[in-house]
Order: sequence, then C-alpha cells, then structure tokens
Amino acid sequence: CVIAAALVSRRVKSHRRWQRAAELVAEFEEGCGTPVGRLKQVVDAMVVEMHAGLASDGGSKLKMLLTYVDSLPHGSEKGIYYALDLGGTNFRVLQVQLGGKGSNILKQKVEKQPIPQELMTSTCEKMFGFIASKLKQFVEEDEESREGTIETRALGFTFSFPVKQSSVSSGVLMKWTKGFSIEDAADRDIVACLQEALTKEGLNMQVAVLVNDTVGTLALGHYHDQDTVAAVIIGTGTNACYVERTDAIIKYQGLLTNSGSMVINMEWGNFWTSHLPRTSYDVELDEDSLNRTDQGFEKMISGMYLGEIARRVLFRIAVESEVFGDVGSKLSQPFALSTPLMATMHEDESADLREVKRIVEQTLQIPDIPLKTRRLVVKVCDIVSRRAARLVAAGIVGILKKIGRDGSGPSTSGRPKGQPMRTVVAVEGGLYEGYSMFRDYVDEAIVEILGDVAQYIFLKTTVDGSGTGAALLAAAHSSNRKSYI
Ligand code: GLC
Repeated sequence: CVIAAALVSRRVKSHRRWQRAAELVAEFEEGCGTPVGRLKQVVDAMVVEMHAGLASDGGSKLKMLLTYVDSLPHGSEKGIYYALDLGGTNFRVLQVQLGGKGSNILKQKVEKQPIPQELMTSTCEKMFGFIASKLKQFVEEDEESREGTIETRALGFTFSFPVKQSSVSSGVLMKWTKGFSIEDAADRDIVACLQEALTKEGLNMQVAVLVNDTVGTLALGHYHDQDTVAAVIIGTGTNACYVERTDAIIKYQGLLTNSGSMVINMEWGNFWTSHLPRTSYDVELDEDSLNRTDQGFEKMISGMYLGEIARRVLFRIAVESEVFGDVGSKLSQPFALSTPLMATMHEDESADLREVKRIVEQTLQIPDIPLKTRRLVVKVCDIVSRRAARLVAAGIVGILKKIGRDGSGPSTSGRPKGQPMRTVVAVEGGLYEGYSMFRDYVDEAIVEILGDVAQYIFLKTTVDGSGTGAALLAAAHSSNRKSYI
C-alpha cells in the first residue's frame, strides 16, 4: 500500500512537471505570435520608419545611412582586386579576378579566419594591425602563386557596422554591434585606421571603397541579375540595404548622383515598433547585452541571439518544471547554446531525435533526456526560428512597399498601376543559407503577406557576396566606366 501511494505520488508529480513545462512553452509561443495581421502592421511600421529615417538624421531608430554608392558593377570590369570583410564571427580576405565584358568573375580566392574573441574588445591598433598582417600575408602568397605584382592594388573594405560615410571611401563608426566594442574606434575614420595599419605593415594598397556587408551583397546580386534592388543579411547580425531615389532622401536635399539613385544602408537591426512580438526573454536578453536598448530587431532575428533566446526559455523550463532532471550548470550559462546547434536540433528528422539528445548531452551537459523532452526542445527551437524568419519576411515586404514593388504602388517602368515587376532580393548569411526550415518560413510568410504578388519576388542566396561585392565595387570605382543603377 505504501509502495502504491509512492508510485501515485510520483506520477502526480511527473504530471505536474509536464503541465508546467507545457504551460511555459505555450506562453512563449503565444508571446512570439506572428499572425499575418501582425506582420502587416510590422510592414507598415517599417515603411513609416524608413520615411522618418530618410527625412532627418535621428528621425527614426532606422538610420537609413547614405553609402555614396550610385553605380553598381556592370560586368565589364577587368583586373585583379582585393577585399577585406570584417564584421561577424569570421573575417575574410579575398582576391577576385575579373575578365572584362562577358566573362564574369574568372577566379576567386577566399580565406576565412575566426576573429580572436579578445580582439573584439581590444584597441583599434590591435584589431587593424591584426587584419592588416593577415591581408599582407594573403597578398604575398597570392602574388607569389601568380608570379606577378600589381602596381596600385585596390581594396574593397567591407565593414559591417553602422558608419556615417562622407564619401564612398571614408566614414566614421557610429557604434559597435554584435559583441564588438573597441572604444578608441569611436568617431574615427575607419578607412584611415585601416590605411594606417597597412602602411605600418608596408603593404601598398588603396582602399577604393568602404561598404557595409549588405551593400557588397547587393553589388554581387546586381552583377548577376540586374533586377536585384535590395539585399538582406541574416548572419551574426541582420541588416538590409536597397536602391533609393535621391529625391526621396529628404535629409540630403540637393544630393546629386549621376544615376538619380543611391544605395541606402538601413541598419534595420535597430528597427523598432510596438507591433513586434516581444517576450520577457527578449527583455532579459537585452538587459544583459553589451548594447542595451539597441538593435531590438536584430536581437529577435540574427544568429548571434537565436540560440541564446532558446537557451533562456529552456533554462526557465528546467528550473520551473524539472523535466530536464538535475540540470547541469551549462544550461544556465549565457550563450551556451549556439544558433547553428539550435538549427541542427530543429532540423533533426530522426524518429528518436538523436541529434537533439546528442547536443543536449554534449553541449548542455544534460544526460539522457526522454523523447518527450526532446520534442519539447525542438518545439522551442521552432518557435524562436519561426518568429525570426517571419519578421525578416515582414522587413523585406516593408522595403518592397516603400519602393512600390509590392503590387500596391505605381510602377516605375511604365507598366499599369498594380502590375508587379520582377524583383530580386539578394540574401546572404549562415542562418539563411544553411537552414532550410528558416528559409521555408521566410518564403511562406512572404506569400502570406503578399499573396499573388509573391510570385514576382525572388530571394536569391549569394555566397561571400559581402566580400566579393566589395571587390567588384572597388573595380567599378577604380575604372571610369560606370553603369548607373
Ligand atoms: C549589424 C551591423 C550592420 C550589419 C549587420 C549584418 O546589424 O550593425 O551594419 O550589416 O550586423 O552583418
């Protein structure tokens, strides 16, 4: 009789634990809700903020930065160009060989290296000294293998942070994002910092263009497909840029470009509207971050944060429901669950969710969780990822609406009102490229928001576009022949 009572009591306890866990997941799911009505509100808020950011500096949380890029690569550039791509977990050095008209990119070399964590919060001298030395090594090896040197080497510099540019090849850092924080870089011309480091290394190289990673991606996208009008990055951080008419850039009245257009770096990671589905986990993540109250959109979307949101939810479940048994210390550690691992668990298709078990065991140090708990982990990953993807979709449609490509505005090419034009958005970033469920959620939400018009919208993935595009722009800006947007 005592044994039976103990069994019943254990069962009741287990049932309660599950109930609490299920409640927490349901609460989280509700908080992350993105029904199409809400997404449309986000779209409209994005359009309003874009207008406000173009009207005046500081007019919106969306900075809507000028890039001074008014011409995009046209395909007849020729020669060898280099690029340096800094701004995420890795940095890349590239060499791109262009063959001139009709021959596209002939050859390309890319070298990728992780950025030592300590450099991300060091000094300008250390950070730029490090990348200049890597670039020098790369150029020397490249020239040795080709048995040739170039007299004036041109470099495209992708620097993926908010920069107030004063020309296509100069600009001042406005603030750091994505866990970088080098204090003595504030208010300094980033190109001058790099150029100084290059000179110290004895490397003769001219920084021809300074671009955001979104702009590099747009350049490569446009190089391959002239209907490309915008680019989105969904990597460590998230951001977008697009081609805007200069007369719509009210804050720079009188801005003249030969094309009548300019690429605008939106810095959409900092976008904010009360329509965004924000939960207590987002609030806490923000409070514990290096850049509190900044980059609110980014903190719901990008690779730096998704795993961490999921970890926070799982940790609370672990504490309040004990379904994870005796919780190892790892689940309580910020950033213990990376976004790539979260994605792997989300995409585990095995019947017994083997990958989930392995990752939870190895990474979070929680042994042997039952299948039911593994399913719960997958559900949490799904909620986090789905919300992020659907918000990206809303952001993209916001851009399309602003430039009249959502089927609602007047057509710019003499078509009747309402007839959509083929429109391409270049998309880059680890999260999108290698994470098919995320991609499917983005595509699905675009269809939900736009209906039939979605068939005219193409999201095209680029690889290394941020760097390759910078090399292409270096070429376009080093030659006299330009093709205007
Ligand atoms: C961050 C940066 C932005 C960059 C994006 C993607 O949001 O502020 O400049 O484009 O990350 O790398």
